[in-house]
Amino acid sequence: MSSPAVHVVDHPLVQHKLTLLRQKDRSTNSFRRLLHEISMLMAYEVTRDMPTQLIEIETPLARMTAPVIDGKKTVFVSVMRAGAGLLDGMLEVVPGARVGHVGLYRDPKTLVAVEYYFKMPHEMHERDAIVLDPMLATGNSAVAAVDRLKETGPKSIRYVCLLAAPEGLANFHAHHPDVPVYTAAVDERLDEHGYIVPGLGDAGDRLFGTK
Ligand code: URA
Repeated sequence: MSSPAVHVVDHPLVQHKLTLLRQKDRSTNSFRRLLHEISMLMAYEVTRDMPTQLIEIETPLARMTAPVIDGKKTVFVSVMRAGAGLLDGMLEVVPGARVGHVGLYRDPKTLVAVEYYFKMPHEMHERDAIVLDPMLATGNSAVAAVDRLKETGPKSIRYVCLLAAPEGLANFHAHHPDVPVYTAAVDERLDEHGYIVPGLGDAGDRLFGTK
């Protein structure tokens, strides 16, 4: 069997902005803006093979058939709360997309993901789902979010994060080898608290200024 797909979005603009965003003295405002910009850039890579359909249009010079995407067929699934940091940029690029939310918290002792909210659009079987959560750390919440999402039967699922730990990728793909992961970087390791090293700290706290 071929290895599950991990796409590292190594475009220089993404890597430059990621370096700035990792810096510990970066303000909340600047962190948020950079994450927004990175998510717009990552959207290009994640939607690269999105289906298009041909429509008839008229330019000032001639009639032609030209491709358009059906954005409504895409559903961005934001894993609360840090997924919100990737959502706005993605929506800016695919404004017609639908949005689902999964609420999970990480039990601080066991690091196991516990669900507290789940809401998806109707007719998921017609939609391509793109799950958004900046930090693929232990992978437990990613596995739980995709387990739950699969119950709704979407046409396809992709997983987008900003940083992944090797341990999290291995855990995620042991459970979901069919789901490709898109990330801006694969970092060294997890620490004993389940944080990605070197990482960027707690993405939710840095995004919302809660610490
Ligand atoms: N969640 C975060 O926000 N940061 C980490 O490093 C790991 C999980």
